Amino acid sequence: MLIKRSSDLKYSDVTPRDIYVNRRKFLYGMGLAGGLALAGKSLADLVNPSARAYASTKLTGLTGSPFSTTEKVTPEQVVTTYNNYYEFGTEKDQPAKNAQKFVTSPWTVSVEGEVAKPRKFTMEEILKLAPLEERIYRHRCVEAWSIVVPWVGYSFSTIAKLVEPNSNARYVAFESYFDRKQMPLWGRAGIELPYVEGLRIDEAMHPLTLLGMGMYGETLPNQDGAPVRMVIPWKYGFKSIKSIVKIKFVKDQPQTTWNITNAHEYGFYSNVNPKVDHPRWTQSKEVRLPGFFKNTPTQMFNGYGDQVASLYNGMDLKKNY
Ligand code: MTE
Repeated sequence: MLIKRSSDLKYSDVTPRDIYVNRRKFLYGMGLAGGLALAGKSLADLVNPSARAYASTKLTGLTGSPFSTTEKVTPEQVVTTYNNYYEFGTEKDQPAKNAQKFVTSPWTVSVEGEVAKPRKFTMEEILKLAPLEERIYRHRCVEAWSIVVPWVGYSFSTIAKLVEPNSNARYVAFESYFDRKQMPLWGRAGIELPYVEGLRIDEAMHPLTLLGMGMYGETLPNQDGAPVRMVIPWKYGFKSIKSIVKIKFVKDQPQTTWNITNAHEYGFYSNVNPKVDHPRWTQSKEVRLPGFFKNTPTQMFNGYGDQVASLYNGMDLKKNY
């Protein structure tokens, strides 16, 4: 078997092939739709049998958010079966299958570092720190596909303020859970694990930066980062780290997984920018899933420029990609 190196694996030919595979499944399903209706099964059951085949809990009392887009929400079926979660496989359909038994309870998140009150939060505590909002965000992957997702959570600043960051806290470092036993494909991920990410403190404290605990009105599916993940809508999707166990306020710019893997292609900031192409493909357009064509123009800061552009005043965004 050919073991690909990480630099070969990612973000290159993977998307077109994947879209092709999904299209084939879709067309196959279309042909069988009539028969399935008779058999009492939906087309969705056939195309993606694993969607929501896991325990998830309905989240009630959600409030709306002024940050929500009014764009059409992507079907849940697509969002929960087309994932990047390398710990559970590098193909888009693998996380939905391989993360089903991932144990996400009990779960604690340690919030530490340059803070006055370091603390470990249980998931139960996290869910109750603030009213849960539904925020419908565009989510743009660096691979040039995008989705629109009704996330559930609240601003990351809510939890950050509770630990009282001090004046040395210039960045925030995030770390995902990692367990070789539960993630048997880890050795083929082609990235160093645990997955790590980072934000500058003002980016982290920006109200758009979401600590996500759910989607589509329910707790997060494992493949989408259960039980708690980040969602930073103006940055490429890889900044939105999943299944977080550690949040550390730090002085120096932290390391990030894709920058460690391939610094030439993935920088620290990773703001969505249609004017700065990826070295191997254009970023000026994207495929809005479940579509097939790269015909949706990509917007600067993924369309969140009015809110976040000022964070980067005076910075050369071509250099700081
Ligand atoms: N977090 C962890 N722990 N492991 C990963 O492989 N992939 C990232 C990000 N967070 C990843 C991760 C990438 S590349 C993207 S595009 C988004 O998660 C995908 O999120 P989604 O599957 O919910 O769309």
